[in-house]
Amino acid sequence: MTFMNKKLNILILGGGGREHALSWKIAQSPRAGKLYIAPGNSGTARTGENVDLDPSRFDDICRFTESNNIDMLVVGPEAPLVEGIHDHFLASDACKRVAVTGPSKNGAMLEGSKDFAKAFMNRHNIPTANHRSFTSDTIREGMDFLKNMRPPYVLKADGLAAGKGVVICHTMEEAKDELNAMIRDKKFGPASEKVVIEEFLDGIELSVFILTDGHSYVILPEAKDYKRIGEGDTGLNTGGMGSISPVPFAGDVFMQKVNKRIINPTVQGLRKEGITYKGFLFFGLMNVHGDPYVIEYNVRMGDPEAESIIPRIKTDLVDLLQATAEGKLKGQNVEIDPRTSAAVFLVSGGYPGSYEKGLEITGLDDVQDALLFHAGSKLVEGTCHTSGGRVIAVTCLAETLEKALSGCYRNAEKIRFDKKYYRKDLGHDLATYT
Ligand code: AMP
Ligand code: GLY
Repeated sequence: MTFMNKKLNILILGGGGREHALSWKIAQSPRAGKLYIAPGNSGTARTGENVDLDPSRFDDICRFTESNNIDMLVVGPEAPLVEGIHDHFLASDACKRVAVTGPSKNGAMLEGSKDFAKAFMNRHNIPTANHRSFTSDTIREGMDFLKNMRPPYVLKADGLAAGKGVVICHTMEEAKDELNAMIRDKKFGPASEKVVIEEFLDGIELSVFILTDGHSYVILPEAKDYKRIGEGDTGLNTGGMGSISPVPFAGDVFMQKVNKRIINPTVQGLRKEGITYKGFLFFGLMNVHGDPYVIEYNVRMGDPEAESIIPRIKTDLVDLLQATAEGKLKGQNVEIDPRTSAAVFLVSGGYPGSYEKGLEITGLDDVQDALLFHAGSKLVEGTCHTSGGRVIAVTCLAETLEKALSGCYRNAEKIRFDKKYYRKDLGHDLATYT
């Protein structure tokens, strides 16, 4: 698989803000030939051609890559990776020449099974909360295990549960009920047939990203994301209300610890275990008094982190993804914009509960000095309408966090749709660190 410097035809799978950020960046590359996004959204339609393909139908995707001479497949979300799209491509004579960004099915287990991820971390001495895993056969032991822990209790469904599989319980009663609900009542379906119970880590979270070819890696900008709907990090969890990069409390000393204690042993661990991993790897970390612990691995870029991180990457992304696929990341440099980037999500009123769709969005052309990444919008007869809970991320880069955020908020006001909501307190939690 050597492409030299020829232009590459690229297919991106996914249809959210992350995929819009990826397609926006890839479309700027002189190396990009035809760019397709499946299924894409109204934002990605401006960067390439949206195609009506379902990311879970691997045969259809394979056929599309064959008939459209696709050289590179960039997998945005985790589900196709966990279901083995990389292996599917490698096993097909017609598709194995395609460079897939994303791990093999085995590698994707780092996100697909929390129990696998915890065991992997333990095997490679990677700092993480102490834990044990339980199933219906061992649920009684699980109840006893809880008795030896202090609140709050952290219970995690082993498998993918659309970001909802982690429950933090404040009393023993709640924790026992939750363990029963997950295992006995299959609250998250097969995903919670096994449950990880772990120690609560008290600290501040951040997201760290690398691109790895399975041997070497490059560290991408880190970010802080805001998950809760309400200001002051209150209310329900969402797909993400915004993000900030860089993270003020992730200075050189802390990032050196992350590299030495977490990133390097993870990549070496994958290599030693013979796991094929070529793609993005996302470390969800907790900074506990200056020491990093892994909360979770994700086998893809983050969302809404991508919307602040990708604009800070100055290096050509197609070159980086090609080097990843060809095992040539060693010695690669990634040039990062030193400015601060902030992404603020405009969401539909009512989200993450029920909300209206199909509301007209106006003011998009009035936006200045900001990037817009669409997640839940679609074009209806040439005008943009809401089509999801998280609608558009407004991203600004500036010399300071304060200026980046004020750019986001100034532009967030200009974009109008009925019942628009966004958090106005991003970065407030970082004031003590800046
Ligand atoms: P996850 O789906 O693994 O990202 O977990 C969702 C959220 O639960 C994380 O972003 C953390 O805020 C929180 N969380 C998960 N594990 C722990 C832990 N061991 N200690 C404290 N908070 C946690
Ligand atoms: N921002 C967290 C995620 O992408 O899962």
